[in-house]
Amino acid sequence: MKIGVLTGGGDAPGLNSAIRGVVRRALQGGDEVLGIQEGWLGMLEGIAEPLTHDSVSDIVNLGGTILGTSRTNPYKHEGGVIRCRAKFEAWELDALIAIGGDDTLGVAARLADEEGLPCVGIPKTMDNDITGTDYTIGFDTAVTIVMDSLDKLTTTVMAHRRVMVVEVMGRDAGWVALVGGMAGGADFILIPEVPVDMKRLCDHLLRRWALGKRYSLVVVSEGVRMQTDVDEAALEKDEFGHILLKDRGVGPQVAEQIEHRTGLETRVMVLGHLVRGGSPSLNDRINAGRLGVTAVDYVREGRWGYMPAIQGGQVVAVRLADAVGQTKTVDLDLYHLAEVFF
Ligand code: F6P
Repeated sequence: MKIGVLTGGGDAPGLNSAIRGVVRRALQGGDEVLGIQEGWLGMLEGIAEPLTHDSVSDIVNLGGTILGTSRTNPYKHEGGVIRCRAKFEAWELDALIAIGGDDTLGVAARLADEEGLPCVGIPKTMDNDITGTDYTIGFDTAVTIVMDSLDKLTTTVMAHRRVMVVEVMGRDAGWVALVGGMAGGADFILIPEVPVDMKRLCDHLLRRWALGKRYSLVVVSEGVRMQTDVDEAALEKDEFGHILLKDRGVGPQVAEQIEHRTGLETRVMVLGHLVRGGSPSLNDRINAGRLGVTAVDYVREGRWGYMPAIQGGQVVAVRLADAVGQTKTVDLDLYHLAEVFF
């Protein structure tokens, strides 16, 4: 068999481990792999090269993706789907493994279900917001970096007796802020799933000061909405209709309000893409590899329109159509658990 593989959407540490899993499992069974460059853009433009045993040597510890990525949506390009089908034929592909988040997997689901193209997905996103799987490639590294950053920021806020507002990515789900914030000992965490209560936050900070704890870390998810929010219609959107949430600048808005309401000196740190950078964590290396290997098994079984997911530590098959288009938001029980430590 000849299997194509692509990575789409934001890069995430662990992608290379998944690609390595795909290639090594395929070669083990005598199959060939074609690496399609830059996500669906490579499919539209016909940019691809074979992946050999050597192409995936020494990449398990490498962040990013050796295939490159893009936020290209074939459904937004003239004749995009026809061009995708033509590439399947020209490259003589028997299957395509698309590694990505909701957008990339949404395209794979439609190509499989509506066009009958042999596609399998693998869930990846540092946001951890894909339905049907406990795990997505990149999340574990992202929250580890948030935790490490909070450890570092603690020493500077303690020294200056300040409040530090730390804004983290995560789109419309608060997983990165909540899990990273809990691990890093944040004093308050704002996530999109819970309405902002500035009075409660500021009262909490003032109470800490009164108790002699004259420093605080407040973690804010980029998807949090403030009353003073900016006009989203004016912001640029990608081909899947998403604005860059970082441009809404929620961190600075929260910091400004804290300073205004409490008089406490406040700084803001936007971690941004830093949490997607560098080497993957242990969990991302291992789990991404498991998903890559299993995706090839699904190809051999002809499970088109499915993705290997992780539920309760086990790899299970989930229909892409059941997973996409519905953000897996934060479990509020976990938020209430975090509140114990506020
Ligand atoms: O979906 C992953 C993610 O990192 C989001 O958390 C963030 O909002 C977005 O990508 C940033 O997009 P880009 O990498 O295109 O700037």
